[in-house]
Amino acid sequence: MKNEKDVLILAIESSCDETAAAVVKNGREVLSNIISSQIALHTLYGGVVPEIASRKHIEKVNQVVEEALKEAEVTMDDITAIAVTYGPGLVGALLVGVSAAKAIAFATGKPLVGVHHIEGHISANYIENKELEPPFACLVVSGGHTHLVVVKDYGEYEILGKTRDDAAGEAFDKVARAIGLGYPGGPKIDKVAKEGNPEAISFPRAKVSDAVYDFSFSGLKSAVLNYLNSCEMKGIEVKQADVAASFQKSVVDVLVEHAMLAVKEYGFTKLAIAGGVASNSALRSAMQEACKKNGVTFYYPSPVLCTDNAAMIGAAGYYDYIKGIRSGYDLNAVPNLKLGER
Ligand code: KG4
Ligand code: ZN
Repeated sequence: MKNEKDVLILAIESSCDETAAAVVKNGREVLSNIISSQIALHTLYGGVVPEIASRKHIEKVNQVVEEALKEAEVTMDDITAIAVTYGPGLVGALLVGVSAAKAIAFATGKPLVGVHHIEGHISANYIENKELEPPFACLVVSGGHTHLVVVKDYGEYEILGKTRDDAAGEAFDKVARAIGLGYPGGPKIDKVAKEGNPEAISFPRAKVSDAVYDFSFSGLKSAVLNYLNSCEMKGIEVKQADVAASFQKSVVDVLVEHAMLAVKEYGFTKLAIAGGVASNSALRSAMQEACKKNGVTFYYPSPVLCTDNAAMIGAAGYYDYIKGIRSGYDLNAVPNLKLGER
């Protein structure tokens, strides 16, 4: 199963509320992808509680690493290097994965590679699209980030635009809470919106006047809250599915418009999407259609590779590893790590 030349990365991800480990062969073949989700635990509180997340990561990290090796049918001897997310994310959560990866690297003498979480999300596209190679444009839409990025080469990025306030996923989560859907908001809005009319309510599509590729979602969130308040004051019944569908359409329209603007301006022939919100069914179909219209090949990971996982860290870690990038035992968690920084 493993040739001498094969590079097997053991990857660990713990930046938010999933404790995950994976074994990835040569950057593109996932031998195992174990995810221990804490969603049920945080649902009680309506969102991720950082301290609870850290404690749960500590409980689970060794277990997911063992399972990842077992499912991949390899032992630690077969592993070439250890990759781990070291930022951005919740500092306490990140520290658990980083400490575990450092301990494994130290105990086994294997190289350690610190990986940027967003670089991981982008690299998720390499796993199922073996032909995908840079350069391409990528829209990263997650709970913490909304970035329109040019992937110039492996590990080389140029940020065209990003959100000025809330991330797209954050807007989904906040609106879901406001309309009584609870946490995690994105998947719940996605589901409920299927029953609603996306044209029912006219919510704003924000533009940032001095930066065409930047995003802003806080105004949309406020518009939804204002709509709900005014319905309550006027005694009008709120149709949850219509609010969900109209809000979702507003987010999707903005994301598609920005991506297509960049595609046309820069002449990209390939566009990828990444991050938790990339699993949104309305976004996937609208982007697919827009790409088709503009003669652009559209790439998107399977939903399980969109939300946080360690396989994507293994893919990104592989390209860092073959470039000769190594981290020392002083690798630390960097909660605000910028894309392209080390
Ligand atoms: O990438 P991710 O798992 O974690 C971060 O790095 O932030 O993204 C989580 C975000 C959450 O805000 C969640 O509500 C959103 O992705 N999300 C979705 C969907 N699935 C997850 N948003 C819209 N539609 C979905 N189907
Ligand atoms: Zn993420």
